[in-house]
Amino acid sequence: MINAKQLKECTKNLTVLYVEDDDRLREDTTKLLNNFYSEVHTATNGLEGIEKYTKGSYDLIITDLNMPVMGGLEMSREIKSYNFEQAIIITSAYDESKYLIDLINIGVDTFILKPLDLQMFLAALYRVCKGISDAKELERFYDILEQKVVEETEKRRQSEQMLIQKGRLAAMGELMQAIAHQWKQPLNGLGLILQDLAEAYEYGEVNESFIKDMVENGMAQINFLSKTIDDFRSFLMPGRKKVPFNLHDAIVNTLSLVGVNFSSQNIAITINGDKTIQGIGYPNEFKQVILNVLHNALDTMEERDTKDRCIEVSLFSKDTYAVTTITDNAGGISSDIIDKIFAPYFTTKNEEKGTGIGLYMSKTIIEKNMGGRLFANNTGNGAMFTIELQQST
Ligand SMILES: Nc1ncnc2c1ncn2[C@@H]1O[C@H](COP(=O)(O)OP(=O)(O)O)[C@@H](O)[C@H]1O
Ligand SMILES: [Mg+2]
Repeated sequence: MINAKQLKECTKNLTVLYVEDDDRLREDTTKLLNNFYSEVHTATNGLEGIEKYTKGSYDLIITDLNMPVMGGLEMSREIKSYNFEQAIIITSAYDESKYLIDLINIGVDTFILKPLDLQMFLAALYRVCKGISDAKELERFYDILEQKVVEETEKRRQSEQMLIQKGRLAAMGELMQAIAHQWKQPLNGLGLILQDLAEAYEYGEVNESFIKDMVENGMAQINFLSKTIDDFRSFLMPGRKKVPFNLHDAIVNTLSLVGVNFSSQNIAITINGDKTIQGIGYPNEFKQVILNVLHNALDTMEERDTKDRCIEVSLFSKDTYAVTTITDNAGGISSDIIDKIFAPYFTTKNEEKGTGIGLYMSKTIIEKNMGGRLFANNTGNGAMFTIELQQST
């Protein structure tokens, strides 16, 4: 026995189209159906039924067989030809059982005899609607799941974007430090020129040739300042197109910009190997990776108070790869963290110094953006970072 509550559980979100030509029966049954379904629409014959069906969508169609204009059999056949999945229940009198084979062939879901026995009617509704509501529930579940996947993917993308942004800021901080260093000299120079002018004036030494020298000298300093800024600006510009570039040039250029950060810490950097090797990728991004790796070595040397500080950069080709290795003598990466150093936010440094983004960003740049490889291992007395890029021949 199906009770009303059980039935309602699976019909309450469903809509039904009820097609019946007998006014009295249609009204009574509609009242009954209204107790269970979220929406009940009616039609008085097959043609009207099809018309309503094409305008709306119904989870279930209940139809009489014998009706004027168009009967239930014809209507069902047509509707099934649009949508074979459409659930249809036929209500019919005894003498129409000759249609049974046709109805089965069309694929109707259930056949109920008239006059309608309430229990049997409810049981039939339950049988058909349980399946529909389960399928709907599953579909809803899939929709939610899909939505969740979309949301999570977007969240991930955003947080990756944030990380890269943060990484850029950190790199920018390091560059600013280098700029400040680079600028000290020419700014001092300009200061001296101005002081000299004041003094020369006092002693009456300001003549045409003095002014000419002064302007020349001053302009040289100013050009140097301006060139530094241009160099840094192009360094920070992300590449759009992968191009062949000379690894040696890229590294020399990086050192010309930030070398002072290292020489001021007594770190000797040497470059050796094949100066002609060309890699394919984004040269400015490559420089940022070099900068990240070099700065990590610097941090480690400061932290460990390393003696005779040196970093060795080697360039060579291996198979189809252009390889750069950066080796320091700061003692290496301890084995319990070496698997984690490329993870986002992994850092062993205090909050002020470390963000844990540098190596993550570097790996993303080399592997995702340039299709190369970046990995680390220990040598006898330090860490070695290897960058493999596709070689350009
Ligand atoms: N040359 C190195 N020698 C020893 N440890 C290193 C070296 N480079 C990186 N590491 C380790 O990897 C960690 C992650 O580096 P990174 O992603 O650049 O983040 P951060 O420099 O902000 O800590 C560092 O905190 C450090 O523990
Ligand atoms: Mg770092």
